[in-house]
Amino acid sequence: MLSPSPLSLLCALLLCFPLAILFTITCPTAVPTTAGGGGSTSRLNNDTPESPPPPPPPPRPPISKDDESLLRVAARVNPRPTSPRKLAFMFLTTTPLWLSPLWEVYFNGTNKSLYNIYVHADPSFEYYPPFSGVFSGRCILSKPSLRYSPTLISAARRLLAHALLDDSGNYMFAILSPSCVPIHSFDFTYKTLVRSKKSFIEILQNEPGTYDRWAARGQDAMLPVVRLEDFRIGSQFWVLTRKHARLVVDDESIWDKFNQPCTREDTCYPEENYFPTLLHMRDPRGCVHATLTHVDWSVSNDGHPREYTPFDVGPELISKLRSDRPRYGDGGSNGSDWSVRERRDRHHPFLFARKFSRESIDRLLRLANDDILKD
Ligand SMILES: *[C@@H]1O[C@H](CO)[C@@H](O)[C@H](O)[C@H]1NC(C)=O
Ligand SMILES: *[C@@H]1O[C@H](CO)[C@@H](O)[C@H](O)[C@H]1NC(C)=O
Ligand SMILES: *[C@@H]1O[C@H](CO)[C@@H](O)[C@H](O)[C@H]1NC(C)=O
Repeated sequence: MLSPSPLSLLCALLLCFPLAILFTITCPTAVPTTAGGGGSTSRLNNDTPESPPPPPPPPRPPISKDDESLLRVAARVNPRPTSPRKLAFMFLTTTPLWLSPLWEVYFNGTNKSLYNIYVHADPSFEYYPPFSGVFSGRCILSKPSLRYSPTLISAARRLLAHALLDDSGNYMFAILSPSCVPIHSFDFTYKTLVRSKKSFIEILQNEPGTYDRWAARGQDAMLPVVRLEDFRIGSQFWVLTRKHARLVVDDESIWDKFNQPCTREDTCYPEENYFPTLLHMRDPRGCVHATLTHVDWSVSNDGHPREYTPFDVGPELISKLRSDRPRYGDGGSNGSDWSVRERRDRHHPFLFARKFSRESIDRLLRLANDDILKD
């Protein structure tokens, strides 16, 4: 029958290379705390004796070579998902997954051929208890990922690349944090996402502070690629289609602009700007301009939204989260040629919610079957 040509062999090799490193790196393991360490063990400090300070780091660390080749190969996967379509749940964390018992109930009994889980866990932190159950062995090769820097974008792009290469059935790619919980059953979530041809990503225009965020890397640093009028703001919690996951890992020019350190930290939220800006510039019609991850900003604390404590978590809260409807970034403008009707009839349900404290897990588990996963 078919004998492999040298070309197809080469292609196969190129495709296999990143697959080989997909899960060979195990999740960071817990490092036992040394007695009397004064709690200083959370970072990777090699207690070296006093030495002359190291030279300052280069101003713009480029993404490492292995990321580049990973992204390049991932950008070449088939844009059409194989059957059955699957959901990729991508957790980006720097802490243990305290709420994992709820996710265990969520995935319990679910057909395993309909989803995949991926975890990006910054290796500079400790993870105890270690990832287990549905999360065990799902860590991808992870790197430091910090707020106020482009490393959070890199981590999300790395997750997308791994998920694209890992399973050709992955159709929708959802990014989640350790404080996120589901607020509908897996079946409901699966049907909602798999039926959609569009990504769900908040894309807001004319938000307060847009200019300062655009100029956070220096005046004109984003030019000529990203003009102020192209710059968008939105939640970093999105669900992208396979087509858009490919678009993100394939992007070089816009990423190059966002991969610059900020000169001001107070206006530096690259992950809330890169994805909405990229999707707005490349395929706004392919997106529902809203996030499906609920958050309460009515109580903001030092740049963080409201965090639910065990006292907040009851049937009323879950019911409110499920009945709230997202804010659409394009709702107030009629600049596009979408029919008014299409926009008026939108009523997408929130599928996930944040931020839930570590302590709220017992209350959540008690509500799991009768409130959270009841559909
Ligand atoms: C999973 O479902 C089975 C059968 O319904 C049940 O016995 C088990 O306790 C469940 N496990 C979890 C973690 O919910
Ligand atoms: C799981 O889903 C796949 C694809 O839809 C199907 O072929 C398989 O029979 C299902 N397995 C179970 C146990 O339902
Ligand atoms: C909507 O369209 C009308 C008529 O074209 C125009 O007058 C109005 O300013 C537009 N509104 C917005 C918010 O763009």
